Amino acid sequence: SRFFRIAPSILSADFARLGEEVDNVLAAGADIVHFDVMDNHYVPNLTIGPMVCKALRDHGVTAPIDVHLMVKPVDQLIGDFIDAGASIITFHPEASEHVDRSLQLIRDGGCQAGLVFNPATPLSYLDYVMDKLDMVLLMSVNPGFGGQAFIPQTLAKLRETRAKLDASGYDIRLEVDGGVKVDNIAEVAAAGADTFVAGSAIFKARRTGDPHAYDTVIREL
Ligand code: DX5
Ligand code: ZN
Repeated sequence: SRFFRIAPSILSADFARLGEEVDNVLAAGADIVHFDVMDNHYVPNLTIGPMVCKALRDHGVTAPIDVHLMVKPVDQLIGDFIDAGASIITFHPEASEHVDRSLQLIRDGGCQAGLVFNPATPLSYLDYVMDKLDMVLLMSVNPGFGGQAFIPQTLAKLRETRAKLDASGYDIRLEVDGGVKVDNIAEVAAAGADTFVAGSAIFKARRTGDPHAYDTVIREL
């Protein structure tokens, strides 16, 4: 498997044809499926839950499903997503009363675990849980909506995070989420990210009417 991974955010997919959309981006070369879960409480938007994750598995999706929980509290849904076929589960530390326990729940369920940092959330949450992490996700927008602009301060935070992960000696992925496009992905990679979420950049290609648009964008990313 190659080092860099592209993770299309299905938040920008056509939900009426979700299985087909996921099949198409995977066929075009995407590596993992980014699955945004919003609860109208932790973030001001409402999306999809474990039933939809299960439906994608039943549809035949075998690629890793990267569940990004923007919900509070997290523990009940962690269990539900483990049962629904999630591969990776990440949550925001502010949304769990017991971050260490929630991370352990994810790994005990056989999934990879990660913490998500909002633009203003300090990285200090990492200090005592590094051994329980498979992924760190830095938000490069405020969570809740697709199609927002990349916050440039994320680049310095990525460099700082990359240094911490390298110093830890653990094998931990560094994912970035929000406003990643063809024209900024190189600088995001240079700052240390290895896994790139892209929602509108990939799924907007659909509206161009070009049947190979996904292939073109994913190849360029
Ligand atoms: C935002 C979500 C993102 C979003 C990214 O809260 O976590 O995954 O879908 O969308 P784009 O790539 O359009 O910024
Ligand atoms: Zn996300």
